[in-house]
Order: sequence, then structure tokens, then C-alpha cells
Amino acid sequence: MNELIGKHIVLGLTGGIACFKAAELCRALIKEGATVQVVMTEAAEHFITPVTMQALSQRPVYGSQWDARESNNMPHINLSREADAILIAPCSADFMAKLLHGRADDLLSLMCLARPLQTVPLLLAPAMNREMWAHPANQRNVAQLKADGATVFDVGQGDQACGETGDGRMLEASEILEELIAFFQPKTLIGHQVLVTAGPTYEAIDPVRGITNLSSGKMGFAIARAAREAGASVTLVAGPVHLPTPRGVTRVNVSSALNMLEASVQHASAATIFVATAAVADWRPAHAADQKIKKDGSGEVPQLTFVENPDILATLAQSPRGRSGELYCVGFAAESQDLLINSQSKLVRKGVPLLVGNIGPATFGQDDNALLLVDAQGHKELPRASKLALARQLISEISIRTQV
Ligand code: CTP
Repeated sequence: MNELIGKHIVLGLTGGIACFKAAELCRALIKEGATVQVVMTEAAEHFITPVTMQALSQRPVYGSQWDARESNNMPHINLSREADAILIAPCSADFMAKLLHGRADDLLSLMCLARPLQTVPLLLAPAMNREMWAHPANQRNVAQLKADGATVFDVGQGDQACGETGDGRMLEASEILEELIAFFQPKTLIGHQVLVTAGPTYEAIDPVRGITNLSSGKMGFAIARAAREAGASVTLVAGPVHLPTPRGVTRVNVSSALNMLEASVQHASAATIFVATAAVADWRPAHAADQKIKKDGSGEVPQLTFVENPDILATLAQSPRGRSGELYCVGFAAESQDLLINSQSKLVRKGVPLLVGNIGPATFGQDDNALLLVDAQGHKELPRASKLALARQLISEISIRTQV
């Protein structure tokens, strides 16, 4: 919440059925603290009324370059100078073609052309039929608009208003919001490949029972999101949790510690940073029964024996790439007491350059946390805040330590 406080967004609508999603987007932007100025093309007004958008944005909507409400009669200049970004959602194929050629025969295109290139970014959320999206002319336009500095979001996939199925739907309002928030984050990890483990593991006893723990995965998912926001390409190896995958993050679902080790080793070969947040089970049943273990009526209880799981963090930290620093490894320590001492000894035991301590019972399942960063130089507290806010601070600390 309040991710966009202080930001002024010009929300442009062009003609497309996805205009109905722009209403929800406008609301979401305002909920996050942004101020929103809506500008609509004539085509957009066929799909949704300026009245709706005015009510949601709490400001009069602009549509014409001849709008006399501006005392200098230059809405294209006045509106674009105040913006922290111009976001066009939906952006039609026709409007992209127009932008590409620098045409300026309506207020929105005129404003995009007249915007100060260096200070007012242009973000486009395309929306169109799948054939239009895939057409070479349109794909050429997308590529050229990107080359000209615009940020063009992906399109969604699925059922289209025309009855066809494929690529070209506009992203959902919540997805565009996540992209916009990410856009404003500092790009401190460009060129990095980040691998994150998150969540609990599940160690089977038999086909219907197993041992797991209370880790929610929220901290690891927040770190994956923050790393992607910072410009890294991110792989998230997740134990069994029901969290949505952060946008733009590649997720690999695993179950047991052995699965997690295998996936992590595989993806670590290309990674430059590894952050181990997973609450990996320390032990697993020595033998998982093939069939459900049944009560036999004798009152005897099954005797479980355990073997130790491999340590994923130590394995990667002690690998040749981990030792040389090519793979910068960050460990987490979930403790119940003596956070500093335990974190310091874990730093040494795991052989990692950075260890992040937290109090397990105070954080498992919560939306906020407090972290203690421990490295060879000393320690630093990151006071209680939302997990996403802490994840961004941690990513910033990691980026400082991995600068070459
Ligand atoms: N870790 C791991 N593989 C394991 C156990 C732990 O990768 N088999 C990682 C965790 O993801 C975390 C760090 O090691 O980054 C420390 O985990 P933690 O559970 O706090 O410590 P343990 O090594 O299990 O030690 P202990 O249970 O004695 O505190």
C-alpha cells in the first residue's frame, strides 16, 4: 500500500474493449497514493465514458487538444510537464503505430510527442486481437517503440472479447500496477541472475503424510520480487506454498529438500547471486513408505528414523563458483534467541559473505519482519517493516556488495 505516494500519473486510454480494465487500474493507482490525470482518445470514449473516469480519478478528464479549460490553451504541454509517467492502458495497435511515427493529431498522441523525453517515461500496456498482436507490422512497431525508449509491457494470454484465444489481452489492472511499481524502483541489479529458495520443504512419511514447517515463503517471494524490480532476472525455487508468483519471476516448484537441492544446483550454474530463504527440513524420514501406514489394531506406533538432509546453502557456498565469489551467497538464519551470536556463527559455519538473521516465531506467516545483517565487517539492523520494504533494502545491500 502507498507504493505510489507523490507520483503523478497521466493515464491515457485508447480505443479497445480493455478500457473497462482501465477503470479498475485508475482506482488501484489512487489507492496506492498516486494522483491520476486521465486523457482519453475519441475511440476510447466509445468504450467507457469520461464521466466514469472522472469519478474514479477525481479530476476532469481531457480529450481534446483544443480544450479551452487551460488558460494558455496548451493541455498537451501542461499535462505532460507534471507527470512522473505517462501510462497508456489500453494501448491499441493503431495508437502504437501513431506513436511510432510521431504523429500528433489528437491530445494524447500530441502529449506523448511533446513530453520531455528524459524526465517523463512512456509506458504502454498493449491490448488487441491475437492476429493484430502477432502481425509483423505490429511487432515491428513494438520493437521500434522500445528502441525509442518506451516501456512496452507484455500482453496477457487467453480468451479474447472477439471469441478467439491467444496473446494480446491487456494485462490485468493488478499486473499493470505491479509493473508500474517495479518501474519506479532503482535498477541496481541489472545484468544479475538471482536464484532464491523460499518456503518450507515437505518430507514424505508415506503417500498421504509428511513433515513440514510453518514457513509461509513470504520473505523469499518478496526478495524475488525486489530482485526483479531491481532489474535482475530471477529464478525462485519454491517449496509448497500458495503464494502468487511475482511478475517476471521464473518459478520452479519443489517439494522435498532433495528436490530443492537438485533444482537449486541446476539453476545456480547461471546465477550470480543466491539468496537462501527456504526453511529446509533438517531431517527427512529414512524411508518413505510406498503405501499408507495403517493402524494394525495392536496399539503399536510406527517408529520413524531420520537421516539428515543436505545443506543447500552450504553446498552452493562451498562450490567452486561460491568460493570464488562468482556466485554471491546470502544465508538466512531463523532463530528463536541470541540472534546476533547465532547469526555470526552461522555466517562462519555456512561459509557465506552475508547472513541475514531473523526471529523465526516472530516472522513466520507475518507480513512484516525485522532483519539483522551480519558480515565480516560487523552487523546492521533493518528495523521492523513490511517484508517487501525489507526485501528492497536487502537487495540494495546485496547490490552494493556485488558491485565490481
Ligand atoms: N539451509 C539450506 N539447507 C538446509 C538447511 C538450511 O539451504 N538443509 C539454509 C537456509 O535456507 C538458510 C540457512 O541455511 O539460509 C540457515 O537455515 P537455518 O534453518 O536457520 O539453520 P540450520 O542450518 O538449519 O541450523 P540450525 O537448525 O541448527 O539453526
